[in-house]
Amino acid sequence: MPATDFPNVTVIDHPLLQHKLTFIRREDTTTDNFRRLVREIAQMMAYEITRDLPTEKVSITTPLTTFDSPVISGKKLCLVSILRAGTGMLDGMIDLLPGARVGHIGLYRDPDTLEAIEYYFKVPDDIQDRLVIVLDPMLATGHSAIAALDRLKEVGVTSIKLACLLAAPEGLRNLTAAHPDVPVTLASIDSHLNDHGYIVPGLGDAGDRIFGTK
Ligand code: URA
Repeated sequence: MPATDFPNVTVIDHPLLQHKLTFIRREDTTTDNFRRLVREIAQMMAYEITRDLPTEKVSITTPLTTFDSPVISGKKLCLVSILRAGTGMLDGMIDLLPGARVGHIGLYRDPDTLEAIEYYFKVPDDIQDRLVIVLDPMLATGHSAIAALDRLKEVGVTSIKLACLLAAPEGLRNLTAAHPDVPVTLASIDSHLNDHGYIVPGLGDAGDRIFGTK
């Protein structure tokens, strides 16, 4: 995967993912197709974001012989969805990572300041022992993701990755400055944020499009 101008940020340029991304950007994509495509994109992101997980060999017996074969080792996983749009990526991630625990962080953007305000926080008790993958589809200003990462570090999490669909350069600059230790995997770095804090060209409001609320 290509490196970007941002430290620790990877854009997945796989044609299949980029093709599906085009369809979720389109305004005429229906809610059911949008949801299905986000799930499929999240599956591909789960595949890429776990590329560097450690493995160890275990002895298994096939119908023909016994040999040493790799399994994932190291920290167990926890997916953390930033409500509400993060939930759209959750099913696809769980499809590939069925044993992962799941946490939720509720944040909303103050419409005037665009600052993130927390209203819900529920994560597994042993989250500090896990590799945490935070799901935040739209990295706009980066305020929500930064607040979520701050909170997770506050409760003792040391291994964190962030998965987004789209990011604005402004958000990536804020995020990588606040949390340079957190690798970010995403599908596209878009052009800019508009005056209302929306990513351009973007895909609109991810939560509304996933849940059909507008
Ligand atoms: N959140 C969204 O859902 N869309 C944007 O473009 C920015 C933030």
